[in-house]
Amino acid sequence: MNGVCYTPVPMSNPRATLTIAIRPAEEYQLAFLEEQFSPQSLSENHHRRYAVQARSDGMYLIAWSDDTPIGHLLLIWEAPDEDVARGYPPRTAYLQSGGTREAYRRKGVMTRLIDEAERLAAEEGYRSIGLAVGSTDNPVARRLYERLGYRDWGKGEVTLTWEYARRDGRTGTESEVCIYMFKDLRNRR
Ligand SMILES: CC(C)(COP(=O)(O)OP(=O)(O)OC[C@H]1O[C@@H](n2cnc3c(N)ncnc32)[C@H](O)[C@@H]1OP(=O)(O)O)[C@@H](O)C(=O)NCCC(=O)NCCS
Repeated sequence: MNGVCYTPVPMSNPRATLTIAIRPAEEYQLAFLEEQFSPQSLSENHHRRYAVQARSDGMYLIAWSDDTPIGHLLLIWEAPDEDVARGYPPRTAYLQSGGTREAYRRKGVMTRLIDEAERLAAEEGYRSIGLAVGSTDNPVARRLYERLGYRDWGKGEVTLTWEYARRDGRTGTESEVCIYMFKDLRNRR
């Protein structure tokens, strides 16, 4: 991966700027990423996302402000193995597990991560890109995706369920009612 992208972004104080660098995660950073992004979590999500990249099934992109990781996004080359997502057209990449640390939100971090993911997908010959977002419970994310050109794919609401590690050693489950969105990369802004 050759692209390291630095974008100065104005902060609310016009004299201050947040310099965002987007880079694929590296194995030696994983313990640091868990500690910085998810100090209360036992699920080792950053290890699991890095494993996708290590298998060459995608890229786990991290946004950095100097030495501080401030956002993350998983770009995968195949949509997840769910009935609806399987119906995406051929050569559709997929975005998952996006998040920006609270103190750094509304400064363009996720916009930069998505832009870099789209650039990488287009460079790899992908024609389109998909994602799922909470249909009603995540208006912030949905508005952001719409602003970036993602459209409701029109397949209706789907309940997505995932597991997490509980402190008592058992496995918990969470679910969210989502819609799938879609963007044609050939019309990339
Ligand atoms: C949703 C989420 C990822 C957005 O991340 P973010 O880094 O804040 O996103 P951005 O800053 O790129 O864009 C968010 C908004 O800030 C605005 N913004 C960007 N730069 C800005 C700036 N310098 N000043 C003011 N506003 C700015 C954007 O226009 C956008 O607004 P809009 O969508 O209403 O047009 C973040 O809120 C988050 O982590 N939420 C919890 C996890 C989650 O929901 N993940 C998505 C799962 S599908």
